[in-house]
Amino acid sequence: MLEKLERLPADTILGLAAACRADPNPDRVDLTIGIYMDEQGVCPVFGAVREAQRALVAEEVTKAYMPPAGDEAFNLGMQRLVLGADSPVLRDRRVGSVQAPGGCGALRIGAEIIRAAAPDARVWVSDPTWPVHFPLLGSVGLSFETYRYYDPASHGVDFDAMAQDLKKAVAGDVVLLHGCCHNPCGADLSLEQWGVIAAMAERQGFTPFIDIAYQGLGDGLEQDAAGLRLMADRLPELIIAASCSKNMGLYRERTGAALFICRDEANAQALVSQALVAARRIYSMPPAHGALLAGRVLSSETLAVSWRTELEAMCQRINGLRSGLRQKLEKKSGRDFGFIEREKGMFSFLGLSPEQALRLRREYSVYMLDSSRINVAGVNAGNIDYLADAVTAVL
Ligand code: LMR
Repeated sequence: MLEKLERLPADTILGLAAACRADPNPDRVDLTIGIYMDEQGVCPVFGAVREAQRALVAEEVTKAYMPPAGDEAFNLGMQRLVLGADSPVLRDRRVGSVQAPGGCGALRIGAEIIRAAAPDARVWVSDPTWPVHFPLLGSVGLSFETYRYYDPASHGVDFDAMAQDLKKAVAGDVVLLHGCCHNPCGADLSLEQWGVIAAMAERQGFTPFIDIAYQGLGDGLEQDAAGLRLMADRLPELIIAASCSKNMGLYRERTGAALFICRDEANAQALVSQALVAARRIYSMPPAHGALLAGRVLSSETLAVSWRTELEAMCQRINGLRSGLRQKLEKKSGRDFGFIEREKGMFSFLGLSPEQALRLRREYSVYMLDSSRINVAGVNAGNIDYLADAVTAVL
């Protein structure tokens, strides 16, 4: 039976990251997977996480299962982090949330809930979007529609086209939005544009589903959640998938949360019960370690301050790398790369063809996705000139 199964191609992102790791060229540059790397090319552990981990290891007395909804301190901390501590939604107890295995787990739980509530729901996704959205949501049986989003000519959001396409989204449909730091293009909506989409949701009755995996890495923790919070304040219903992979550096610990904003407290509790049944079908209960660490960081004033300070420094460094790369590329190529500085978070498209991206890999050991999506956080003082020279050479 099993022999009938063929070998599948490697995942587009993970496969390229592995190819880069296997490249013997000491000058290789890894701009593939969305991982923050410091000047030494290391993905660091936050000081606050390290401290929480020391305390956890010293105090932990059991490895019994986590409660199905996850760690309470984590869930509460995530609600406050994402929605804001003084959110009216929290005051009115209109949010239910469960811990999930990473942002991916949260997306999947969200998809299960959508399917249970509206089996024929169409999920509107931006063109382009993170490629993993398709298997994560599609394998539950949901179908997709695409809305125009990124305009390669202007290197920005084509908001008129987006709004025009979303006019076709109706009650029972879901519109998937990137909370901040759009993956893969880095071009985000302005707060005013978030307001327009919120008004469309009110008028047309579709439900927004916000994937927020990079809060704190664009402009800051509060600013990056402003669009999401605007929607939470205005709309009766909202689904959110949040991740601690990037902003707490808990990538391998698979730490995320699915949040459901509902019309009232009873409905929020009903949604949690639905999420728990869905989780039991898939993975039973969430992993402990990452959420116990994040829960400690979020609930301790000292650790939270230390974490926020380190995250701010990370965010500033990414924005510094954005302007540094823009300057180098403009100087060497004589072309306009101003968009790199305007875009947010880890990713930007360089605007190269798949052939140029391939040449960069083959001839220079510079690895980016075929779409020319780069992880800006993979750039450092040691590789920025080499990178800018290589890109200029293939232009
Ligand atoms: C990425 O887009 O590189 C990250 O979100 C990591 C992943 O799982 O794809």
